[in-house]
Amino acid sequence: MPQIIDGKAISAQIKEELKEKVSRMKQDGRTVCLAVIQAGNDPASSVYVANKKKACAYIGIESVSYELPEEVTQEELLALIAELNARKDVDGILVQLPVPEHIDEDAVIRAIDPKKDVDGFHPASVGALCIGQPGFVSCTPAGIIELLRRSGIEIEGKECVVIGRSNIVGKPMAILLLRENGTVTVTHSRTRNLKEVTKRADILIAAVGKPKMITREYVKEGAVVIDVGIHRNENNKLCGDVDFEDVAPVSSAITPVPGGVGPMTIAMLMHNCVESAALNL
Ligand code: GUN
Repeated sequence: MPQIIDGKAISAQIKEELKEKVSRMKQDGRTVCLAVIQAGNDPASSVYVANKKKACAYIGIESVSYELPEEVTQEELLALIAELNARKDVDGILVQLPVPEHIDEDAVIRAIDPKKDVDGFHPASVGALCIGQPGFVSCTPAGIIELLRRSGIEIEGKECVVIGRSNIVGKPMAILLLRENGTVTVTHSRTRNLKEVTKRADILIAAVGKPKMITREYVKEGAVVIDVGIHRNENNKLCGDVDFEDVAPVSSAITPVPGGVGPMTIAMLMHNCVESAALNL
């Protein structure tokens, strides 16, 4: 049987560590505060935002939230970000994506001070990651590295294949695996002979966005399989990009959905907030 990588337990452990750190900071008179902005009322975004605020409360991070109407103008949103950039008591700023269609998402991301960019989406954060300089790292890929580390899975020298090249997951994932001395291949929708490439992987990261697409034909015997996908199947049950029942028996370690990568994203966001406050940038 493969090792089931328990993201729920590992994220709970990280949250406990952060809770202790925040409590020590409070004894020194230091607080941690995250500003969360949601524009419009996309139901999925509302669930994510609520979960982020809940995690803040649990750890002892203060959160200030801004629920803006769908019709908010870009100027109004940018003005709010500028105000939060200037506030000494705010350590992190998060604008939940997607923003309404009439707003330029890139402009919003660029408006956030990189010192408060706890999502790690600002071009300066991404650039710093690429050249090995300090900066915030996108939470989902950072969480995957932490999952591997805390599960005792070595990356150095391994063949790592990432399926997907998004700015939020695929690209930063590739850079992080490279930083850990993995040998990295990034595949995408135009990759030829995808199965041949993924079959080389010692560590396979699936961030494709298609429910249960990755069956055992894509996986080498004994590979570590990390599933970034989250979908609802025909019975309204959660499933990932990986067909877990089919792939688990041929893998050496695998993340389930739910309870794998998902909980790590919020844990790493909380980590970035605490780091921002601790660095007091
Ligand atoms: N929308 C979906 N995932 C994310 C995320 O990690 N951060 C933000 N800000 N928005 C998202």
